[in-house]
Amino acid sequence: MKIAILGPTMNMLSYTTSRLLEEAKKEFEAELIPLIDIKLKVGNGMDIVHDKKSLKQFDYILPRIDSKRAAIGYPVIRFLDDLGVRKPYPAETVLIAHNKFLTLEELVKNGIPVPETYLTGSKTAAKDILGRQRLPVILKLLSSFGGQGVMILESKDAVHTAIDTMTTLKQEILIEEYIPNPGEDIRGIVAGEEIVASYKRIASPGEKKANLYSGGRPSVFKLTSEMEEIVFRAAEAVKSKICAVDMVQGKDGIRVIEVNINPGLKGIEKATDINVAQRIISFVKNEIKR
Ligand SMILES: Nc1ncnc2c1ncn2[C@@H]1O[C@H](COP(=O)(O)OP(=O)(O)O)[C@@H](O)[C@H]1O
Ligand SMILES: [Mg+2]
Repeated sequence: MKIAILGPTMNMLSYTTSRLLEEAKKEFEAELIPLIDIKLKVGNGMDIVHDKKSLKQFDYILPRIDSKRAAIGYPVIRFLDDLGVRKPYPAETVLIAHNKFLTLEELVKNGIPVPETYLTGSKTAAKDILGRQRLPVILKLLSSFGGQGVMILESKDAVHTAIDTMTTLKQEILIEEYIPNPGEDIRGIVAGEEIVASYKRIASPGEKKANLYSGGRPSVFKLTSEMEEIVFRAAEAVKSKICAVDMVQGKDGIRVIEVNINPGLKGIEKATDINVAQRIISFVKNEIKR
């Protein structure tokens, strides 16, 4: 069996991609293919090659597409869809998952609770929406990670400055209800019909964002059956068999804030002895057998 992991170049390898590659090599003939080195061809047929080798030959392809590589990731996954190569999600998922608003829309269409959220392109419309929101309120960049594009704003002044900055930078404005919570979010990592890891991320003191990147720390947490159901339904809503679903527990119930098709495994693997990468590869093995 041959599998390929599509990701960065070898010298830019992250902890997660290296771990997946390491575990994959124990089970299959596995290789890393840098997304940017793939060649797509149309006219006189169509093909997708790397190093003169067609990607059609792989039994499974595990993409690691972050927001920086989504522009090339989308056509690559679309070709693989058309050629019938197995992988955890279709091309449409790349677009949805790398756009926080489209993700929430997809979740809502599937009856999954999310924070009340608005999207607009103009300063006037944004100020009109914000006139009716309680503080704190959240502004987010549409595509970002690690909490870096998320502003939790406590004053009207801060809100107006942030809107001015976003429109100056020609960014669309996503305005999201802040769900009061004890400074932690809850994550379930899905691989097929299994939750391969679940944990809380606890924000560092004085910080509202629980991302590990923002100083949060992971702590193993068993999901309630209600949370498990939400996690599986959210994965299904974005059509991804492998992903992380992030939730916050508000006083009116759980809200899903994000689905991540490219979850990092470093935090959880270092904090516990759970071999998440091996569990994901074991799911891939079952998929190939099906
Ligand atoms: N609506 C919300 N209510 C409360 N906290 C939130 C909300 N949205 C995000 N957060 C906090 O901010 C963090 C980052 O937000 P998120 O949308 O997941 O962006 P990123 O993609 O950068 O991780 C979350 O992990 C959570 O701790
Ligand atoms: Mg997040």
